[in-house]
Amino acid sequence: MHFTSLCILLTLMALCWCLDNGLVRTPPMGWMTWQRYRCNIDCKSDPDNCISENLIKSMADKMADSGWRDVGYTYVSIDDCWSQKQRDSNGRLQPDLERFPSGMKALADYVHAKGLKLGIYSDMGTYTCGGYPGTTLDTIKIDAETFASWEVDMLKFDGCYSNSTEKALGYPKMSEALNGTGRPILYSCSWPAYEGGLPPKVNYTQLGSICNMWRNYGDIQDSWDSVLDIIEWYAKNQDVLQPAAGPGRWNDPDMLITGDFGLSYEQSKSQLAIWAILAAPLIMSNDLRTISQDAKDLLQNRLLIYINQDALGKQGSLISQVGSLEVWKRELINGQYAVAVLNKGTDGLPRPYTTSLGLLNITQCTDGYKMYNVFEKEYIGMFKSGTPIDMRVNPTGVIFLFISPVSRSYMP
Ligand SMILES: *[C@@H]1O[C@H](CO)[C@@H](O)[C@H](O)[C@H]1NC(C)=O
Ligand SMILES: *[C@@H]1O[C@H](CO)[C@@H](O)[C@H](O)[C@H]1NC(C)=O
Ligand SMILES: *[C@@H]1O[C@H](CO)[C@@H](O)[C@H](O)[C@H]1NC(C)=O
Ligand SMILES: *[C@@H]1O[C@H](CO)[C@@H](O)[C@H](O)[C@H]1NC(C)=O
Repeated sequence: MHFTSLCILLTLMALCWCLDNGLVRTPPMGWMTWQRYRCNIDCKSDPDNCISENLIKSMADKMADSGWRDVGYTYVSIDDCWSQKQRDSNGRLQPDLERFPSGMKALADYVHAKGLKLGIYSDMGTYTCGGYPGTTLDTIKIDAETFASWEVDMLKFDGCYSNSTEKALGYPKMSEALNGTGRPILYSCSWPAYEGGLPPKVNYTQLGSICNMWRNYGDIQDSWDSVLDIIEWYAKNQDVLQPAAGPGRWNDPDMLITGDFGLSYEQSKSQLAIWAILAAPLIMSNDLRTISQDAKDLLQNRLLIYINQDALGKQGSLISQVGSLEVWKRELINGQYAVAVLNKGTDGLPRPYTTSLGLLNITQCTDGYKMYNVFEKEYIGMFKSGTPIDMRVNPTGVIFLFISPVSRSYMP
């Protein structure tokens, strides 16, 4: 009863100030070109990896055939470098016809036929970051209409080549223009990342009312240093960021790089666990044609996805730090919790750590809790408030726990 009324209250609060296009009540999941494929337009010498309809189609095929769509990864998104260098005679953006010979509407049809959604990219400014035509204040409406006519389902709106004044006008205007098309289009705003990600320059109340998700901080790169830098920034600013997120409006720490070159197996788990705690969009940027079975198993971990997609939509936070260990916690619906213990240390030995539900402040259910190890996919046992929880956390790795009241019967 207590939790039911809490949920209703939170839902009502969310309804008051979230972009009302009905989309992404839980964080979006999918795949995007940028981190892995950048602005590779060289289809002559690298035909399999250039930004083209072939790349998008082959990823859509994999998403549908290899289990990705069925666990929730549904958006397949094109980032920068898809368009021609000139608008057409009607002032419309047009795809590069050598790389997208069938056109965007046909590509959207292809993707939709696979049960997936198509995302596209544009930039509030004179040019995109890669130097293609941008969306200026006077072309916002026509661009929104063009994207809707192609039946795209998501727009990432970047912020190169414009100043703060233009961004402050353009981002809300694009939100209205998308709404005006009548087509529900997930609206991903890069705006805060260009303004340092923090108040007073960033107004998260306003963002929540015009965008479905937003990049707060710099681009992810294919390295553990980059992942750690992002994690540290979110921890440091969590008091501002945590309340900004909720159903329909999510902080976006950027793409998942599991399956690429830069992360070890342990580090891949760490990125995934913290992104799940942060209620972050799970947007991969990797090669689904050649991805290893290990990486695929991590990305398709059902309990991890269940945690990320929790209906309460409450972003978790860093609750304590002991030496190189960080304890992160997220409250879920029905009195459930997720806890991640991250070892930022790089000194060889797995680090021992002991805690308890009492120390984690998970004590509402006096009968105790069942605990699962998310990555080991194993039931650990029943725990009461004072029962010690012992673990060893690998260097740059994580222990990720799912904690559920004994009365509930969730089996991973
Ligand atoms: C447009 O906004 C109105 C009011 O917030 C909302 O009811 C409607 O669903 C929106 N439509 C689309 C297509 O986003
Ligand atoms: C921002 O750019 C616009 C258009 O170029 C210009 O008119 C305006 O003065 C600029 N504002 C600032 C604060 O630089
Ligand atoms: C932030 O935006 C909201 C909604 O648009 C507005 O009501 C509020 O006054 C803004 N806050 C500040 C500090 O500008
Ligand atoms: C423990 O949890 C309760 C209920 O969720 C909360 O009111 C309280 O502030 C928490 N205490 C600490 C130390 O986190």
